[in-house]
Amino acid sequence: MVISDTTSSADASNKTLCCTFASRYVRDALPRFQMPDKSIPKDAAYQIINDELMLDGNPRLNLASFVTTWMEPECDKLIMSSINKNYVDMDEYPVTTELQNRCVNIIAHLFSAPVGDEESAVGVSTVGSSEAIMLAGLAFKRKWQQKRKTEGKSCDMPNIVTGANVQVCWEKFARYFEVELKEVKLKEGYYVMDPEKAVDMVDENTICVAAILGSTLTGEFEDVKLLNDLLTKKNKETGWDTPIHVDAASGGFIAPFIYPDIEWDFRLPLVKSINVSGHKYGLVYAGIGWVIWRTKEDLPEDLVFHINYLGSDQPTFTLNFSKGSSQIIAQYYQLIRLGFEGYKHIMENCRENAKMLTEEIEKMGKFEVVSKDIGVPVVAFSLKDSSNYTVFDIAERLKRFGWIVPAYTMPANAEHIAVLRVVVREDFSRSLAERLMSNIHQVLDEMDAHPVAVSSKSSHVTIDKDKTQGDKVVTKKDVTETQKEVTKYWKKLVDRTKANGVC
Ligand SMILES: Cc1ncc(COP(=O)(O)O)c(C=O)c1O
Repeated sequence: MVISDTTSSADASNKTLCCTFASRYVRDALPRFQMPDKSIPKDAAYQIINDELMLDGNPRLNLASFVTTWMEPECDKLIMSSINKNYVDMDEYPVTTELQNRCVNIIAHLFSAPVGDEESAVGVSTVGSSEAIMLAGLAFKRKWQQKRKTEGKSCDMPNIVTGANVQVCWEKFARYFEVELKEVKLKEGYYVMDPEKAVDMVDENTICVAAILGSTLTGEFEDVKLLNDLLTKKNKETGWDTPIHVDAASGGFIAPFIYPDIEWDFRLPLVKSINVSGHKYGLVYAGIGWVIWRTKEDLPEDLVFHINYLGSDQPTFTLNFSKGSSQIIAQYYQLIRLGFEGYKHIMENCRENAKMLTEEIEKMGKFEVVSKDIGVPVVAFSLKDSSNYTVFDIAERLKRFGWIVPAYTMPANAEHIAVLRVVVREDFSRSLAERLMSNIHQVLDEMDAHPVAVSSKSSHVTIDKDKTQGDKVVTKKDVTETQKEVTKYWKKLVDRTKANGVC
């Protein structure tokens, strides 16, 4: 089944790949969608692929992503030397398994897990936070089912309470594992889950409330402490024991270093599991996440598979079997190479750069910054006045300089707010930040001189709510023909953003 269709109409009509340089070695064009009949020389294959890849964006200028785009050459070397190790062959690669266990324990301690001196922490490496969330969600579902069964109650309507700002992986979890997702709606000016509303939505079928430490949309930390307190009270009143999961995909490698006083982790009794992306602020290339459980009682034993593979008993709790080892090794490298001090310095630098960007953007006078000072170093900002151009126009024009800055609308009920978001990563240096600011100035000057002539009089993108049908957005009736044209263009861009999801 082909599930990714990225072919443009030009691609579709052109069923072969022609390559000028490679034609020194290859005389026939390569079929695009079928395996070629004959082999080609290795240098030709390299050149054909390398040439095509030149058209990808530059990862270092991709400000849309939280995912690491730079590591030290020493770590690159370790990655390359372990690229041929399958992690699942634990008996054959016992040292790699040991490094994974050390990472789990180091991260569990960072998250204040109650691990005794003689104990090991409970957790696993995953491909990213999405897999980690599937596993944590499954553990909650199974625990809830077991409890309901022993009470003789029905267990076919599980639900999970989250904010509407959750990342798409929560929707995936809900759909794949048949759990209803009950979302607390957002509102203008408040773009995270309101703990009070979340606790109001909890019922006897709630398997957990998921809080986010570092909202994907604005970087803001949700108030897990307040959630814990309110939920403790509700649990006491009702006799339920609804737990909390913290999605610390981005914030898990930030808060322990620069916000140690914020209580969001296992210091809070109802927090039973936490996920974090090693490939975000864990500072490893794409392909690694972690999920940590508070204690072994929080991970139902019947979800752990004990397989006898290649000669020994291996407990596993993952969705897939084989996976690479290099990301685990790279994570261990970062943890010991940087230590607490190194991570702290990097996170402080990122925060400083985000602060500088925020100040510069505010100084321009055209934007409202919606991200907060405390949180993931992200700068999210909306236009105060979109009558001449929108944030989508700005994002498009910034591409000219190589910048990839996403523009997107907020989820329900703040869909009428559209923002640009810059993720500040370790490799986004001060000089790059200054260059970005100067390019934004340039784009604004150009558009002020030649307005794109857009939509509403309001500062935001306006949607007539009564006329919103599913994904279909119908603009207010008072817009002119030109405005309609531009809105159509805008809608196309939004749809594209939705399809990709914000990561
Ligand atoms: C809050 C949050 N949760 C989960 C995810 C999914 O993480 P991953 O890409 O590691 O699977 C993301 C990705 O950006 C995120 O921001």
